[in-house]
Amino acid sequence: MTDPAGTDEPLIAGRKPCLVKLERGKRYFWCSCGRSRSQPFCDGSHAGTRFRPLMFVAEKSEEALLCACKRTASPPWCDGAHNNLQDTYEEASAEEIAAMQGAKLVQRKDGKAVLDGGAYVLTPDARRDQHEGTLGWQRLIGAGDGAKHISLFRCAAEPGVSPWQMHPHSEAALFVVSGKGTVQIEDKRFDAGPETGIFVARGEAFRFDAGEPMTIVAAICPQVDAPAFVDGPTGHCDAAIKTRVAPVDHAKAQVMADRFFQVLLDKSTGSHEITQFIGEVPKSRAAMHRHLYEEAIVILSGRGMMWTETKKAAVAPGDIIFLPRRQSHSLECTDAGGLRLMGAFYPSGSPAINY
Ligand code: FES
Repeated sequence: MTDPAGTDEPLIAGRKPCLVKLERGKRYFWCSCGRSRSQPFCDGSHAGTRFRPLMFVAEKSEEALLCACKRTASPPWCDGAHNNLQDTYEEASAEEIAAMQGAKLVQRKDGKAVLDGGAYVLTPDARRDQHEGTLGWQRLIGAGDGAKHISLFRCAAEPGVSPWQMHPHSEAALFVVSGKGTVQIEDKRFDAGPETGIFVARGEAFRFDAGEPMTIVAAICPQVDAPAFVDGPTGHCDAAIKTRVAPVDHAKAQVMADRFFQVLLDKSTGSHEITQFIGEVPKSRAAMHRHLYEEAIVILSGRGMMWTETKKAAVAPGDIIFLPRRQSHSLECTDAGGLRLMGAFYPSGSPAINY
């Protein structure tokens, strides 16, 4: 434990959150002073300080990440503030790099490189598209690929109007990779260009009206096996959704050490299941880490290497990555110009929360 200020600040008990199993209805006392030897919980060590433990009752039985750095703005939960304790995102140490020197470079088979734990890197092949009217589509992530919650589809819209799709029980977080046009959700039309997120609530019909060829990735959660094509709008439009279209806006980017990310869609915009974000990674190799969410990543620009415990696979623009929940990984950027990615994950939360 360190006391960086040497003052009345809480101590930094850890630079990563503590993974704990909470029991529904049980009371917990979270250490706020950073002095407890039973992190993240209180052991009475705050005696004589201005700090008091934070009592909370677990609303459900679940695994949770409780803050150990004591800098979170949402105590007792980790909010990713630990990433900003230093100027650079935590990079792989010399020991970690040496220990992983023997990692096997996995080559693609049918476009796919399968890594540890069912994680994979996939280079989509347009020749595998299935076709419905002007729309080509293929599933990139789904139940048949080891995912439990998210499905991800590549959609290639030729100029013109594509067929209507509607998922009665799932949300769709669309992301325009290239091309311009409009996305129609029920009776509303929204302009959509590259790097725009679009949200469709469950039960709403949507279609593309492409002014030029458009490539869109659609994260659908809870997962489905295939797009569900319907004859037309259903008449159901969720009036509670305030944000339908979320373009990339550098003014809204959040700083995470030497990285940036912008959340496009999450619970605050009405997306209950999925968080969709854009991330920028400088040339670097992050330390291995995990998330409590299941994630789909699309590489937008830049090259790099995806590492899991014993394997690695090269990544390039257009590739997608599937990461199961809790899979240890590191996305190394090998380009001096950096790497940009779109991430979509379940359950909705902050992409800054890692352990
Ligand atoms: S450990 Fe404190 S914010 Fe993550």
